[in-house]
Amino acid sequence: MHAIGIDIGGTKIAGALVTEEGEILAEERRPTPAGDASAIVDTVVAMIERLSDGTEVSAAGVAAAGFIDAAQSTVYYAPNISWRNEPFRARLQEKLDLDITIDNDANAAGWAEFRFGAGRLYSDMTMLTIGTGVGGAIVTEDRLFRGGFGAGAEIGHLRVVPDGLPCGCGARGCIEQYGSGRALLRMANAIADVGGIGLALADARQKDGGTLTGDRVGELIAGGDPGALQALRELGGWLGAACASLAAVLDPQVFVFGGGVAIAGDLLLDPVRESFLAHLPARGYHPEPKFATAELVNNAGVVGAADLARLHAERR
Ligand code: BGC
Ligand code: NA
Ligand code: ZN
Repeated sequence: MHAIGIDIGGTKIAGALVTEEGEILAEERRPTPAGDASAIVDTVVAMIERLSDGTEVSAAGVAAAGFIDAAQSTVYYAPNISWRNEPFRARLQEKLDLDITIDNDANAAGWAEFRFGAGRLYSDMTMLTIGTGVGGAIVTEDRLFRGGFGAGAEIGHLRVVPDGLPCGCGARGCIEQYGSGRALLRMANAIADVGGIGLALADARQKDGGTLTGDRVGELIAGGDPGALQALRELGGWLGAACASLAAVLDPQVFVFGGGVAIAGDLLLDPVRESFLAHLPARGYHPEPKFATAELVNNAGVVGAADLARLHAERR
């Protein structure tokens, strides 16, 4: 049976009606309402009602950017949103007849890539989503890893720098501060400040009223600007080193990169691979995993959330 997937992002909420084969039959997008969680609840409820109207639907999965509990009901903590012990499932369930499950946004995206995208040929996949934060999804032996309290696979909060930059999670030195879209902008700004290869970045920043945007940096990367490429190489260096540590623990056959930055393709993957090999424990002897960018790109979250919700409902 079809299922509905909802993906709550920082700027927009995406929703889709999805088949068991991961095909999207209908979709919609709305801006994420500002303010407290109740505005988000209302938007999500209305979206689910519209998407399920006139169709038989088994379940709805809602993906959110935070630490989720084992019952897939509560958002324990969201580093980049103001949710603390938010009983999100109950608040949706009281307004809807459909079976609702909450999932972590990166888990949903990773599951979609594993089932239908860049990870479909493998049993063991690790995915990193590169956006405002850094999300993680781990598939081992064909199963999504959740951890003992549900909140595992928070790869973004792997510490890569002792006493490093403060993170939204309350700790310091997390890879999220060195490998996210926000980190890329920080690096690009620093390069713009020094002039030299940063001239085009500095120019773009000035034209945009003093703020570099992700889109602008993306354009400069695509155009081969040396300053923007340098920022991307720095980012890839951090991510590759983190993957080397992850490989020692998880030993995936493939690392998949999603999120806006992944559009850069090999321009991102090349420095990731290089840094990975430089830091890999047992290098030269440890088999080399593949590195790939996401195939479902913007749809991964909704497709994965729908599929996980359907599987969850079948087990109930
Ligand atoms: C959050 C994760 C989320 C990731 C990507 C991180 O800051 O801790 O739960 O998956 O951002 O949105
Ligand atoms: Na995750
Ligand atoms: Zn953190």
